Amino acid sequence: MYAKQRRILVAAAATWLAAGAASAGTFPDFGYQPPASYTGPLFHLSQNYPQKLPAGTPAFFKQLPSPFSNDFETWRTYVDSVKHYCLEGNVETDWNVQKNPIRHWYHMPWQHYGPLGREGIHGLTKEAEIQVKQLAPTQVTTGQTYAVGIYNDIGAYTIGQVWKNPQDPNPAFTSKPNSFHDGTVVCKALFADIDLKQVPFLANPVLWQGYVTDTFESANRSIKQVALIQLDFAVRDSRVPGTGWIFGTFQYNGQLTGKPGWDNLVPVGVMWGNDPEDTGDSYTNKQPTVTKINPDLKQTAINAKPELPPTHLGWNGRLDGPVDNPVSSCMSCHLTAESPQLSPMNPTFQAPDKVPPVGSPAWMRWFQNQPAGVPFDAAALSTDYSLQLAGGLANFYDWKCNQGGVFADGGNACQKATSLKLKLRKSMAPVKVYKIERDPVLEQLQ
Ligand code: HEC
Repeated sequence: MYAKQRRILVAAAATWLAAGAASAGTFPDFGYQPPASYTGPLFHLSQNYPQKLPAGTPAFFKQLPSPFSNDFETWRTYVDSVKHYCLEGNVETDWNVQKNPIRHWYHMPWQHYGPLGREGIHGLTKEAEIQVKQLAPTQVTTGQTYAVGIYNDIGAYTIGQVWKNPQDPNPAFTSKPNSFHDGTVVCKALFADIDLKQVPFLANPVLWQGYVTDTFESANRSIKQVALIQLDFAVRDSRVPGTGWIFGTFQYNGQLTGKPGWDNLVPVGVMWGNDPEDTGDSYTNKQPTVTKINPDLKQTAINAKPELPPTHLGWNGRLDGPVDNPVSSCMSCHLTAESPQLSPMNPTFQAPDKVPPVGSPAWMRWFQNQPAGVPFDAAALSTDYSLQLAGGLANFYDWKCNQGGVFADGGNACQKATSLKLKLRKSMAPVKVYKIERDPVLEQLQ
């Protein structure tokens, strides 16, 4: 598997040498080519990033409620409009977004790399394991999630700036005083590989083919059907106090209309801040039988209508989707987006003796309202809430600097990355560099 991925990379690298501004072929489309038995269309990375900042903001900006309230009904029109913006022209073209006749959408480069890398049918990346009973009491076996995210033209302009030199990306374009520009919209569709009979709301599923691993632990891939379960969005809007971003999500409910379709996505809610004052834990709900809405949260608004199946939400009721970590929140994970990645996405993603007490000041570091463009760690550059950008850059540096890549000496980019890491080691006490636990899948692949 890894050898095959490497061949694709080497072939692509030859193109990079000649590349100026990104266009088809500058960045590899995917890392996992489906077997010859698959004869359908292949995924193409949409990478013709605009070279000028598009003017204006999306029309739904006019629907931003004022004042902000934790009553979801005040947000419903806005949230429905964002969903429409994400799906219009994409559902009809099976998310072959380059064929969207209404607006242009783009993908993040460098997500093809490594064991979680993009597969070649829909460009899905491997995300997380679905824990037992995370979705419903009847869900007694685990599952796994795959996803694909897309950026609108305003967001893609910034991607093109960061990656203007494909061999020496520059995350300064998303770090203070810079950030993604107002009107950036990111949408992400998430699919579950799980026994559908165990999850009532996945009745009448929307199914995609994906070249995915047999289980979350496995490295062996085959073509399987995965079911639409969640749709996320993030909108950069400087009118939002504190963070400058709005995150929202939808959950699939196939029991609503009784037939498959993207209109079965019902809103879970929105958040525009992490409620840093709320340190309680009584609404955390890892194995949901009901949705527990925490009325004390002022910066999360959850859909209270019965159209939303019982769902777990995030830590103490902050916004989270059904396949997200129930002790996190959208903005809690995403505020850690930086390059290099110096901290884990969640306080629990550390050695057990390092995990701070729940609700303590050290824990609450992950539940602050961090302004757009401000890095989580002062020594890093912010990728402004984009974990795809942070991950893509980390993949690139790993390939270029550690794996030898094609440019074995690494050049400028590696010197910068390495000297930053060295500086960090000298300047930070205690060292906060997050050591990823040994990854058996990765080791097997290497
Ligand atoms: C456990 C951490 C975690 C949580 C919680 C989480 N995300 Fe993400 N999200 C990620 C990672 C990692 C990526 C990048 C990987 C990918 O997309 O393949 C990502 C990607 C995204 C993207 C694509 C653009 C980007 O920023 O990288 C969007 C949009 C997004 N998430 C929205 C949400 C929303 C909305 C929620 C809450 C409902 C949420 N996320 C919760 C970790 C998280």
